[in-house]
Amino acid sequence: MSDLKERLEQLDVSLFDAIPSQTTTDDRRSLLAIQSAVGRILPNYVYLEIGSHLGGSILPHLRDDLCSKIYSIDKRPLIQPDERGVNFGYPENSTERMLELLAKVSPTDKIHTIDGETGTLERSLIDEKPNLCFIDGEHTDAATKVDFEFCLDVLERDGGIIFHDAYVIYNAISDCIATVKKKGLNFKAYALPSVVFVIEIGDFPIHRNQNMQQLLLDNHKSYLFSLEQNDGYRRFTTSVPIKYLWKLAIKLGGKF
Ligand SMILES: C[S@@+](CC[C@H](N)C(=O)[O-])C[C@H]1O[C@@H](n2cnc3c(N)ncnc32)[C@H](O)[C@@H]1O
Repeated sequence: MSDLKERLEQLDVSLFDAIPSQTTTDDRRSLLAIQSAVGRILPNYVYLEIGSHLGGSILPHLRDDLCSKIYSIDKRPLIQPDERGVNFGYPENSTERMLELLAKVSPTDKIHTIDGETGTLERSLIDEKPNLCFIDGEHTDAATKVDFEFCLDVLERDGGIIFHDAYVIYNAISDCIATVKKKGLNFKAYALPSVVFVIEIGDFPIHRNQNMQQLLLDNHKSYLFSLEQNDGYRRFTTSVPIKYLWKLAIKLGGKF
């Protein structure tokens, strides 16, 4: 077994170490389990990512010889809107900086970067169908749905689409699942710790992998982490004077 394969199977999160990534340790374990499970199904695979920032979530795929091509789509805004109601800053956000950081770890020839957003991109730019897509761009429901439609259009018939920060863009995920159902596609959808959400499309049974089974059993982590992240909204709603306004609204016939 190659060193990398072994480290992937052990969910060795130090595979992320060289570049900062906006992911928790549990997210990293989930992402490595997915990558390792994909490698068990396919002799080689194509990875597409929307939202790459410094390249942290690209890194394990760049290191992996089974990954033959990586598409990185990033609009590179300096500030991005977010469903949590605040804008997040990305100073000095650039593709050049990302490639420089990644090149310090591994040759970057297999990375194809696209500066832009999926809403305005021609599908034909993706000339090799990805087997695995990762959506981690603008964290709004509207942008996530557009990203998902793009992924669904370019994905191999059987493949996986994964989302990060599921507790932020859960309304979009719900709509994406409705879209998949409406199209009559076979699918499986599930959450992994901390905030990774997976939709398997067609016959892409990465959930059967042993590491994935363990993470699925650990789904209390994703459930509780998500609720805890959103608990501030409940505390706000039940605080004085909001709770009195709320009670009044209910009295006046409002529905919540
Ligand atoms: C949360 S960061 C990605 C983090 C990265 N995946 C990681 O784990 O290290 C979000 C990225 O999305 C990019 N972005 C923002 N809006 C976008 C859009 N509409 N389309 C594509 N990318 C976008 C930003 O430039 C930023 O690099």
